[in-house]
Amino acid sequence: ALISLRQMLDHAAEFSYGIPAFNVNNLEQMRAIMLAADKTDSPVIVQASAGARKYAGAPFLRHLILAAVEEFPHIPVVMHQDHGTSLGVCQRSIQLGFSSVMMDGSLGEDGKTPMDYAYNANVTRKVVEIAHACGVSVEGELGCLGSLETGAAGEEDGIGADCILSHDQMLTDPEEAAQFVRETQVDALAIACGTSHGAYKFSRPPTGDILAIDRIKAIHERIPDTHLVMHGSSSVPQEWLQIINENGGKIPETYGVPVEQIQQGIKYGVRKVNIDTDLRLASTGAIRRYMAQHPAEFDPRKYLQASVKAMTEICIARYEAFNAAGHG
Ligand code: G3H
Ligand code: 13P
Ligand code: NA
Ligand code: ZN
Repeated sequence: ALISLRQMLDHAAEFSYGIPAFNVNNLEQMRAIMLAADKTDSPVIVQASAGARKYAGAPFLRHLILAAVEEFPHIPVVMHQDHGTSLGVCQRSIQLGFSSVMMDGSLGEDGKTPMDYAYNANVTRKVVEIAHACGVSVEGELGCLGSLETGAAGEEDGIGADCILSHDQMLTDPEEAAQFVRETQVDALAIACGTSHGAYKFSRPPTGDILAIDRIKAIHERIPDTHLVMHGSSSVPQEWLQIINENGGKIPETYGVPVEQIQQGIKYGVRKVNIDTDLRLASTGAIRRYMAQHPAEFDPRKYLQASVKAMTEICIARYEAFNAAGHG
């Protein structure tokens, strides 16, 4: 059944687990996520970005998610809009039947002015007013995602990708977070704690606390009733990079967020963990390998099936690692 993000994350908080929120663009990703959730008895958050709506078309995307709910009626599903850039975008998603929307005002009205607090708080509060009247949850974002190693903002839906951030901008301030939540009444808050979007998060193998775990803890202590969201949470599996590169790919050395670091975050209030890149890598690796091994095959269902299997394995591993398994 379709439920709101608030309802799902309240349960996750009560039982101290995290839920991966997977981005969805096509049938294969949707099936992989549901098969993994079914296998592990996990709750599901699927999220659609602006890019996803552009790729699949809003009606297809909507019905893809509704079809999953129909095929797996016993699994709770949140249909979430990822990185909404305006009130209008969020309103359209609410009309489409999404049970949760993200209003990302963290980069300002022009999409490239980090730390325009007033704009962010204002537009997010307006979205909350409308969404809550419709029973829809809202995720806000405060702070600017960026790799603490490189200072690069990463690929935040293509916006602000090349702005270089100061160390301060890259960590959400606990006091400001408390003020933001009080003023906007958001259900969940995406925080900046050292992650960034995309495959290129860290250039060297991460060791120790590559994320600002103490900062997550401080924010959680200040706003214990707000569910924290970690964007840019792909782990960039080295085995899939190798499979891609052994089968004609050319991806340079790069590293993601270790699963143990995400588990630390979950200990301190992170309830929604956004993952897109890992499924992209697994899918691409599986298809490259299948094509290389079966050069005469031309039925797309064959290589797409290989991609579903690879993505399902990643989803299962994340459901288990975040302790969502058994809570479906
Ligand atoms: O936040 C970014 C997500 O990975 C979505 O990426 O805009 O390419 O669909 P996209
Ligand atoms: P990754 O690029 O690390 O998978 O993050 C996805 C994300 O945060 C979507 O909002
Ligand atoms: Na989101
Ligand atoms: Zn994101």
